[in-house]
Amino acid sequence: MSKKPWAGRFTQPTDQFVEAFTASIDFDQRLYRYDIQGSIAHARMLARQGIIAEGEARTIVDGLEAILADIEQGDFEFSVALEDIHMNIEARLIERIGPVGGKLHTARSRNDQVALDIRLYLRDELNRIQEYLDRLQEALLNQAEANLGVIMPGYTHLQTAQPVLFSHHLLAYYEMLRRDAGRFSDLFKRLNVLPLGAGALAGTTFPIDREFVAEQLGFAGVTRNSLDSVSDRDFALEFCAAASILMMHLSRFSEELILWSSADFDFITLSDAFCTGSSIMPQKKNPDVPELVRGKTGRVYGNLMGLLTVMKALPLAYNKDMQEDKEPLFDTLDTVIGSLKIFADMIAQLSVKADSMRQAAARGFSTATDVADYVVRKGVPFRDAHEIVGKTVRYCIEQSKDIPELSLAEFRSFSEHIDEDIYDYVTLDASVNARRATGGTAREAVQREIASARRERAERN
Ligand code: ARG
Repeated sequence: MSKKPWAGRFTQPTDQFVEAFTASIDFDQRLYRYDIQGSIAHARMLARQGIIAEGEARTIVDGLEAILADIEQGDFEFSVALEDIHMNIEARLIERIGPVGGKLHTARSRNDQVALDIRLYLRDELNRIQEYLDRLQEALLNQAEANLGVIMPGYTHLQTAQPVLFSHHLLAYYEMLRRDAGRFSDLFKRLNVLPLGAGALAGTTFPIDREFVAEQLGFAGVTRNSLDSVSDRDFALEFCAAASILMMHLSRFSEELILWSSADFDFITLSDAFCTGSSIMPQKKNPDVPELVRGKTGRVYGNLMGLLTVMKALPLAYNKDMQEDKEPLFDTLDTVIGSLKIFADMIAQLSVKADSMRQAAARGFSTATDVADYVVRKGVPFRDAHEIVGKTVRYCIEQSKDIPELSLAEFRSFSEHIDEDIYDYVTLDASVNARRATGGTAREAVQREIASARRERAERN
């Protein structure tokens, strides 16, 4: 059995089940690259400060690089007896380069080491998330552009409210994702500081240079309090919170895709590649992908609640409870990245049933507000106009007629302010294109938003 680096004060070996129970190697091995990256920066700093010899640092760095290559080639056996990724790598280092490997842990503790590893790891993963977010946004913009004339019913309470451009509806999700990206880049700033140098909790007696390590690892600065450095997991919580909001957005979108692809709505067709069939009903094509994304939103919320609960009421500084931070964090990352990736492809391959959407938009008196606005422009107070059009709609229901089908005489029986030009206002296109102010659904307003999104993206890339 491998000798534990902390075995010195113990007389009995660890119980085997306890060993397995307390180990994190099964899940924290995914941090290996960052653990080595952090150790290399630390070793260089130790030599630069004269804490270890230059030659020793070189031997350590070479050893770590060789271990990295081994792990990458699958030539590394992770040992549960060695508990976690930190001790697995350190033990292997000593095995490889001899006792000098034992100098790497000078002026460091696993407590500041693990805080560093997670920050380094999450930093890279956040960049990946931004890329996938970007791909989904691109897919939305492309669909919005390709389907610019398509009109669909806009809903409130899932009741037909006013006609909107399908592109406008898609751009609503573009905005949500824009805020999501903002939340991730915002938390990145708080994440991007070096915790190493905190030691176990109180700092270190060695003359370390934290700023040098921070610079080598591309951090914007160093943490300001050693107790906080080893016990802070806000960055993981912030990430899980931002991820929860993102997943909430994707689950709303999923819900709409599921509704829209049903025979009752019939607004879109999801590519076969994103659906599955039924083992008993031959006609079925089930929207599994959006359903699963909607379902996975639950586990991401659960991870946030789990992690908040792990951290709740923990006394300063490090506590073993905090080892429970990794699985919810990793699971959230995997779920978010998977969901974004599949969503981007699904949106890119979506096909739109424009006629069916337009027919649906024409039902449900979706231009009633336009009649009210028309009467208001003739000087009638809005509340009275609302009453007039309410009666008009009731009449339409009784007569089984749509608003544009009413004769001028019928219109005028509700208000003498209505003239022949009313017919210019009650079509779907007129209704949509009348909403021209910034953020409205008029074709020109939507085109402006697409153009500004394109500009913003061009500037960013
Ligand atoms: N595996 C541990 C974790 O993930 C590393 C830090 C352990 N520190 C300690 N003092 N036991 O939290």
